[in-house]
Amino acid sequence: MNDLSNKGPVAKPLPHDAALLHVTGKARYIDDIPMPVDCLHLAFGTSPIAKGRIQSMDLSEVKASKGVVAVLTADDLPFTNDVSPSIHDEPLLSDGTVNHVGQPVFLVVATGHNLARAAAKKGKIDYVEETPILTMDEAMAANSRFEDGPRIYTKGDPAAAIDAAPRSVKGTFEIGGQEHFYLEGQAALALPQEGCDMLVSSSTQHPTEIQHKVAEAIGLPMHAVRVETRRMGGGFGGKESQGNALAVSCAIAARHTGKPCKMRYDRDDDMIITGKRHEFRITYRAGFDNDGQLLGVEFHHMTRCGWAQDLSLPVADRAMLHADNAYAIPAIRIESHRLKTNTQSATAYRGFGGPQGMVGIERVMDHIAHDLGLDPVELRKRNYYDAPNNRVRADNTTPYGMEVTDFELHGMTDQLLETSDYAARKAEIAEWNKGQSRLKRGIAFSPVKFGISFTLTHLNQAGALVHVYQDGSVHLNHGGTEMGQGLFQKVAQVAASRFGVGMDVIKITATDTAKVPNTSATAASSGSDLNGMAVKAACDTIRDRMAEFLSERHQCDAKAVKFEDGQVIIGDDVMTFEEAASQCYQGRISLSSTGYYKTPKVKWDRIKGQGRPFFYFSYGAAITEVVVDQLTGENRILRTDILHDAGASLNPDLDIGQVEGAYVQGTGWLTTEELVWDDKGSLRTHAPSTYKIPACSDRPDVFNVDLWDGRNPEDTIYRSKAVGEPPFNLGISTFLALSDAVSAFGDAYPALDAPATAEQVYTTIRRVRDGV
Ligand code: MTE
Ligand code: MOS
Repeated sequence: MNDLSNKGPVAKPLPHDAALLHVTGKARYIDDIPMPVDCLHLAFGTSPIAKGRIQSMDLSEVKASKGVVAVLTADDLPFTNDVSPSIHDEPLLSDGTVNHVGQPVFLVVATGHNLARAAAKKGKIDYVEETPILTMDEAMAANSRFEDGPRIYTKGDPAAAIDAAPRSVKGTFEIGGQEHFYLEGQAALALPQEGCDMLVSSSTQHPTEIQHKVAEAIGLPMHAVRVETRRMGGGFGGKESQGNALAVSCAIAARHTGKPCKMRYDRDDDMIITGKRHEFRITYRAGFDNDGQLLGVEFHHMTRCGWAQDLSLPVADRAMLHADNAYAIPAIRIESHRLKTNTQSATAYRGFGGPQGMVGIERVMDHIAHDLGLDPVELRKRNYYDAPNNRVRADNTTPYGMEVTDFELHGMTDQLLETSDYAARKAEIAEWNKGQSRLKRGIAFSPVKFGISFTLTHLNQAGALVHVYQDGSVHLNHGGTEMGQGLFQKVAQVAASRFGVGMDVIKITATDTAKVPNTSATAASSGSDLNGMAVKAACDTIRDRMAEFLSERHQCDAKAVKFEDGQVIIGDDVMTFEEAASQCYQGRISLSSTGYYKTPKVKWDRIKGQGRPFFYFSYGAAITEVVVDQLTGENRILRTDILHDAGASLNPDLDIGQVEGAYVQGTGWLTTEELVWDDKGSLRTHAPSTYKIPACSDRPDVFNVDLWDGRNPEDTIYRSKAVGEPPFNLGISTFLALSDAVSAFGDAYPALDAPATAEQVYTTIRRVRDGV
């Protein structure tokens, strides 16, 4: 069957399958699962200091506290004391040392959630305090890092190119972290089963990892642990590994007490205990000619990884792999330091390091455009991959040696410049600014080229399980998890299209490690790419069996059997899908199949930084206009225009929803979301009172979001492209628009750091205007 003919529900703008449940409050999250009557509740007692050793522990008051059933420390753990997703360096409960404020030290098991939390505050622990390593400078000075030394990727000789260049710029740029602020906090529920088996419900992007860590912790093979995830109330990368501690705690406590156990973090605890986006400091030097043609770029990345390795190495790698963004740079060197500090263990967050790498080169472009007085869009276009006027470009390969063959940004940029009326508005803004003293407006463009695939190559695989029942209804399961992004609906659209049936025929079911094993996290934006293909394979296996059986009966060619509009057409005969399923069942045809997919073509060496880490790239472009107030630094977005590439979209409405949400989240990261630790390593911004995420009112006044009319040249599911993370990077245009507005106050380059909070905008205006 031709993939692009008769697509059925694929490509239709259907609403999220659970939209009605979400808005009526009926969608079931972990905390909504009806609890068994004897369910126990857990809370951690946590470290108040950033670094030290435990000298003595007196937990008698905790044990005597109302409702407490058990109190566990590391000594009580029956098997492995570890919840790390990477290198076994993350004890569930302190092993005698503590490494950040908020690290779990002991576990309280009580008859109520609030009783457990109250008891957890009553521990009396004496610590021998040690000097913590909190900042990147302290970590560099102490050579406190993951891996032996920095990772370095090089192409050409950038130092020589910069030294010989007619012009150059250099600078240092701080980029803050970001709290995930998923609406549903981390949560898990464990139900002990017959024998020692365990059934775990977890709010996780990675049920197989939960299964793996729970099995390790209770000393059983993975087959004895089943993990189920119906949905998350947002994950954003924060539930790739950070749910391990809760699920493992529940399983251990359930094994210890023989009772069901549930754990959920209160918002403050969630912010204090779990990891966030990696902070970066990027130092750069760039050489270019008088036309703005890049000749060489050097980047020095420092990243604060926190106390445990978690996913920091691939995150820092991805930052390096996005240091070029959309630009063919003839000579480039990227040096990356992964620093170990006594803070929360930084973790995956939408873009997985990519945004930090990308904002680095976008900052360089901003700086160069300011230096040359050249239009920033023109400068970017001249340096794009595939740019006809990029004279010095030796080839069209990335710094890691992958050829860029699918570059869409020339056409996308021209279209966006036109639909947003960029040139006229830019002139109008310049005119308007001349007549203003207090307010200034700014406008900026930023492009996105984001690599799709897990850089840990073996993760690029997925499985599915599909059953057709004898009444023609279909049960759909795959390894992906639903966190609001609409994966389940997209994949159900694929299944409905393969069988030529309506969406009502397909039952979307919870992710379940007993149905599809050995899954990867739903991450790297590849949920629909991987699971869509696996489901297609499963459906096609069943469909082919049905077609063969029915064609034999009706004496026609199996290839002539068609599944469309709820019907099966067999030569001159037509029957409903339901009748066809029933006949196949009676003919003893198996109506159940697994499906499997692995991404082709990806292969690279992460140490050398060479090869093809990505199957393809997703593209996007944004133009943001802002206004700033020099008396307060306050600012707002007046208008945003976005053109985003989702290939041949599986569902344009869901994709536009992803683009809008990602842009706002990316903007929050670079503007208002500021994490502040005090000099003792304690996070002071651990609630919405002090940590400002964008609200509905912060959304652009005018917000035009469109999808690029394209299709993936690579053979992905219905030629679609991944859309979960790439548009997060479009928020960079907001940051650059603020820079543009601030630059209207004087001649100096604004050199904003991120997040560009109102305070920072205010002080930068003063510096640009008055030189103070
Ligand atoms: N959208 C919503 N609504 N909620 C989320 O938690 N997570 C993002 C993105 N979009 C997220 C989201 C992240 S970090 C990723 S990797 C992708 O969704 C994962 O889903 P996908 O692979 O199906 O796109
Ligand atoms: Mo997304 S950061 O890959 O979960």
